Amino acid sequence: MASIGLAIFSAFSSVVAGALSVANALNPWGATSTKDHSWQKPSPTDRRSPCPMVNALANHGYLPRDGKSVSLAQLLTGCREGINLGADATLLVGVKALQTSSTGNPLTFHLDDLSKHGIIEHDGSLSRKDVAQGDNHTFDPEIWATVRAHFTEDKISIETAAAARKARLAAAPAANPEFHMSDADVNFSFIETCLYLRVFGEGINGNAPTQWVRTLFEHERLPFEEGFKRSDKPLTIADILALEKKVKAASA
Ligand code: HEM
Repeated sequence: MASIGLAIFSAFSSVVAGALSVANALNPWGATSTKDHSWQKPSPTDRRSPCPMVNALANHGYLPRDGKSVSLAQLLTGCREGINLGADATLLVGVKALQTSSTGNPLTFHLDDLSKHGIIEHDGSLSRKDVAQGDNHTFDPEIWATVRAHFTEDKISIETAAAARKARLAAAPAANPEFHMSDADVNFSFIETCLYLRVFGEGINGNAPTQWVRTLFEHERLPFEEGFKRSDKPLTIADILALEKKVKAASA
């Protein structure tokens, strides 16, 4: 059943991605990712999200630096140019992102719309407080320190990533009587761990350099200076799901 659903989603993603890339080619619509990809600190009026990667892409100008009215075409282009995330994998989260939209146009969203709880944003984040604790979107050094404490080696293995996530999911309800995660929240939380392992690690084998992952979370910057190079091949949903299986097995 799940694989039929995935096949339908993948087919849908390919159609949407195809249509959007034609639109991209015809129209500067998707070309707002500026040529200047230097890291720049966001200004006080720039909007940012609870996602370290989306924020990093905006800080590098792969997404609009002001974080406003981001379209799926811009998300696809930005994720491709910045980290070579394939259209299917980008749409996995991107389609949900549109459900948070407060722009007045259901085809765009502001990055801070992503803080809307219960669509993608969930309790038990690796580096953010729960919604009942107030700020569910800003990087929280204290929470992150408890997660980072698991990263004692140069590289983060699947087992280490799974243990860090599991410990955080055990600590969060102890600190928040209103803690709640739906099955979908738990699934997104697995996917987020898989995303950082896939973008920075060795294929579907984990081993993401600790320094690169810390740079992403702590500075919302892509770790180019630390040696990160965007993959030559697009990173696919199949990769993420293969990793998810392994992270789940290591969490059992
Ligand atoms: C493609 C569009 C994407 C959207 C719309 C998106 C959105 C989000 C949102 C709303 C959250 C908050 C979840 C929470 O409550 O913790 C989140 C978390 C996260 N995202 Fe993304 N994301 C995207 C892509 C990526 C990619 C490519 C990566 C790769 C590294 C990534 C890594 C993460 C991580 C590691 C977290 C967990 C943060 C934490 O738990 O503290 N995301 N994302």
